[in-house]
Amino acid sequence: MTKVVVLTGAGISAESGVPTFRDADGLWEGHAVEDVATPQAFDRDPLVVQRFYDARRAALLGVEPNPAHHALARLERSLGDDLLVVTQNIDDLHERAGSTRVLHMHGELLSAQCRACGTRSRWEVGLHDDPVCPHCGAAALRPDVVWFGEVPYEMDRIFDALESCDLFVSIGTSGAVYPAAGFVRAARAYGARTLELNLQPSEGSLFFHESRQGPAGLLVPAWVDELLA
Ligand code: APR
Repeated sequence: MTKVVVLTGAGISAESGVPTFRDADGLWEGHAVEDVATPQAFDRDPLVVQRFYDARRAALLGVEPNPAHHALARLERSLGDDLLVVTQNIDDLHERAGSTRVLHMHGELLSAQCRACGTRSRWEVGLHDDPVCPHCGAAALRPDVVWFGEVPYEMDRIFDALESCDLFVSIGTSGAVYPAAGFVRAARAYGARTLELNLQPSEGSLFFHESRQGPAGLLVPAWVDELLA
């Protein structure tokens, strides 16, 4: 069986109504990264940061997985442990579509991290009113999101998977942010075939054996049909 690693970015959730970061009307159009997505921003003005993520967490209730998420869940039902989805996304749309083998390298909106005891707790409501940690009781919770300058989660498991995969597929990411943007070259160096599925060419398109342009909601189901044929 082919071992497959799929990397997803904001583009896979765009058709569900979740804004991307760098497209026109993207999140970084309306907010400066340094005001909402760095540890320094949180130290400087935690309320601004908490409200930014509270709004995104609340917006999750109003969106649903799209055909691209469902196609990857379908692929997992066929490939089982031979498929791993590594996502940069902090939404829960992969899981809501039925995917279980998902690594959130940039954290999750539906999780809070305690700066006092380090515990990560499932969290579905706001954080701006300074609730206490369910584990240690300290009022020290922050969004469980990896900010610029912080180390992403699960890097060892991700590189183990890149080393042993036969096929690396990147869906809906601009290739602007490392370390994720470097995965294609690592996978290729280990001998994997590499494929990009994106609305438009990304900053890393040249590193892929093949790059297909179009909306994920069309490209991903078609690619899964092809792989399972
Ligand atoms: N289908 C496929 N691709 C799409 C679609 C779509 N419907 N809509 C947009 N795209 C593509 C865009 O062309 C772009 O290349 O998705 C990509 C989105 O890029 P970004 O907004 O930069 O998002 P992403 O690559 O996930 O950002 C990486 O940067 O801001 C940080 O931590 C944040 O995880 C994020 C990381």
